[in-house]
Amino acid sequence: MEKNNILIRFMNLQDLQYLKQHLSIQFDDFWTFSILEKEFNGENTTYIVAEENNEILGFAGILTIIDESNIMNIVTKKDKRHMGVGSLLLSELIKISKKLNMKSITLEVNENNTPAIKLYKKYNFEQIGVRKKYYDNTDSAILMTLYL
Ligand SMILES: CC(C)(COP(=O)(O)OP(=O)(O)OC[C@H]1O[C@@H](n2cnc3c(N)ncnc32)[C@H](O)[C@@H]1OP(=O)(O)O)[C@@H](O)C(=O)NCCC(=O)NCCS
Repeated sequence: MEKNNILIRFMNLQDLQYLKQHLSIQFDDFWTFSILEKEFNGENTTYIVAEENNEILGFAGILTIIDESNIMNIVTKKDKRHMGVGSLLLSELIKISKKLNMKSITLEVNENNTPAIKLYKKYNFEQIGVRKKYYDNTDSAILMTLYL
């Protein structure tokens, strides 16, 4: 996959419809479409997609609260992982947050989600806390922040 062909742009209604059909199978099963739709339509959220030859390879979104940007999700297609798409999406979210004059970007991630933790560390996110047994009363959530 040539990274040069990948376009990062704002998500639109057509993308949302596409994701409705394909979210759970091609992307992941732990996000429900209704939550994504609610966030997409919500105030203070910005959603982006990575597209290549009219194919959506991944999407990501932030919610801004005062001067803090929160990553709501970042997900790439199952068969397109570890090819740089997540990095492109995350670097765009950082750029957008800077443009919006945010002071920091915060997120929470499952302690066992090694690919995601590595991705965030690559972009200098630091662990700032832990929420014990946050997911289904079993796995802990790691809180990470990047100060802009
Ligand atoms: C996390 C996720 C978005 C990463 O997307 P991606 O497109 O695979 O990311 P990239 O290819 O840009 O990889 C970025 C870095 O992540 C790490 N990484 C990605 N996949 C990895 C894997 N399978 N194993 C270990 N590290 C991995 C690497 O450090 C990589 O950097 P490198 O290529 O320089 O070594 C993707 O795995 C995903 O969609 N996971 C399911 C959804 C999810 O868990 N989202 C995060 C919720 S908090």
